Amino acid sequence: MDIKERKNILVTCGPGLKEYLQAELEGLGFEIVGSHVGSVVTRGSFIDCMKLNFCLRTAYNVLYLLKEFRCGSSESLYKHINKLPWENIIAPEEYLCVLSRVDTWSINNSMYPSLKVKDAIVDRIYKKTGSRPDSGPDRNKVVVNLFWKDHRAWIYLNTSGVKLSDRNYRKMPHKAPLRESLAAGIIMATGYDGSQDIVLPMCGSGTLAIESALIAMNKPAGSLRSNFGFKHVKVFDERIWREIRNSVRKTIRRDGLQKRIIATDIDEQAIEAARQNARTAGVEHLIEFDVCDFADTEVPEGEGIVVMNPEYGLRLGELEQLEKEYKRIGDFLKKKCAGYTGYLLTGNKLLSAKVGLKSSRRMLFYNGNIECRLLKYELYEGTRQLRNSGKD
Ligand SMILES: C[S@@+](CC[C@H](N)C(=O)[O-])C[C@H]1O[C@@H](n2cnc3c(N)ncnc32)[C@H](O)[C@@H]1O
Repeated sequence: MDIKERKNILVTCGPGLKEYLQAELEGLGFEIVGSHVGSVVTRGSFIDCMKLNFCLRTAYNVLYLLKEFRCGSSESLYKHINKLPWENIIAPEEYLCVLSRVDTWSINNSMYPSLKVKDAIVDRIYKKTGSRPDSGPDRNKVVVNLFWKDHRAWIYLNTSGVKLSDRNYRKMPHKAPLRESLAAGIIMATGYDGSQDIVLPMCGSGTLAIESALIAMNKPAGSLRSNFGFKHVKVFDERIWREIRNSVRKTIRRDGLQKRIIATDIDEQAIEAARQNARTAGVEHLIEFDVCDFADTEVPEGEGIVVMNPEYGLRLGELEQLEKEYKRIGDFLKKKCAGYTGYLLTGNKLLSAKVGLKSSRRMLFYNGNIECRLLKYELYEGTRQLRNSGKD
């Protein structure tokens, strides 16, 4: 495999994050050549894939296309895959995981094609070397992805392995933490870049605050983990990897922040977890943590951004209490955050109506499989304040 050969790269992401992933790719100088639900297609080499794994905040996986072919049966699938020079990509002592997404009339589950792909790969390596890699569900080593739709199939090398949203800093989870890639997308949606104050009441385990700090420092999300799928293939070159990291790290802002990141929660254990997670992520010194009711959070004078992610109560009986909390959130935004731009992430429309402010924008996100809205509020100073319209 030629690590400089430019091919299609499919970058996958969570639902609702495509727009932000596309912006990240363009910001890194990659052209967008297509997109699907939950993925964006760009062009580049295996070396580019390493860089993308290091830099991207909103992506799940970076998949490097090995081959696209016409495929009408599992026999044809085996033949096409078996023809690829896998002995140049995967060493026999490695471990292989095959993931498939199949939507074709002749096959009704993805287990069988995964098995066929695995057989085609390990049979080829055995024939060429006399031994074969182990295989199974562990995504920590070599991962290969198959997409098979109707009569076309695509086989990719998954250069990420475990999803990039697993950044490795969340050693102390708390209740209902946001996935790191979702938190990054939300912060990107607010337009935050470190040149504004950002206030994060109800911060829980600190994901929004940590992603804010990483963005403010321009610290690559991938710098927090050491394992990636690309490290397990034969063509991996440690020297090139070091060069990529060194060149990206040159753009990290290390001289502290001009503006403040304030993160609070009423729960002492949440703040303890958030602090530890921030320490693991190397950004603890940039975040001012405090244990307090959200309404007592310090909001610096002037303009800034405030982001809140309250619970949205899927259990009956919680709603009445939460209605009061959402009304209090509205009061806090109106009274204490005038001059700021406010954001509220919630999965409950009825509750968001209790905030009593008219949102100027609603952005769709998914927290797991729960449809959520990030509501934007322009919190004008004094008389320009927008009052309750009866809707959120
Ligand atoms: C949905 S969780 C936030 C999760 C967070 N975004 C994360 O990624 O970990 C809501 C948080 O609000 C906090 N909370 C609930 N009521 C509060 C209040 N009155 N004042 C401050 N924090 C509160 C809870 O302790 C909880 O940590």
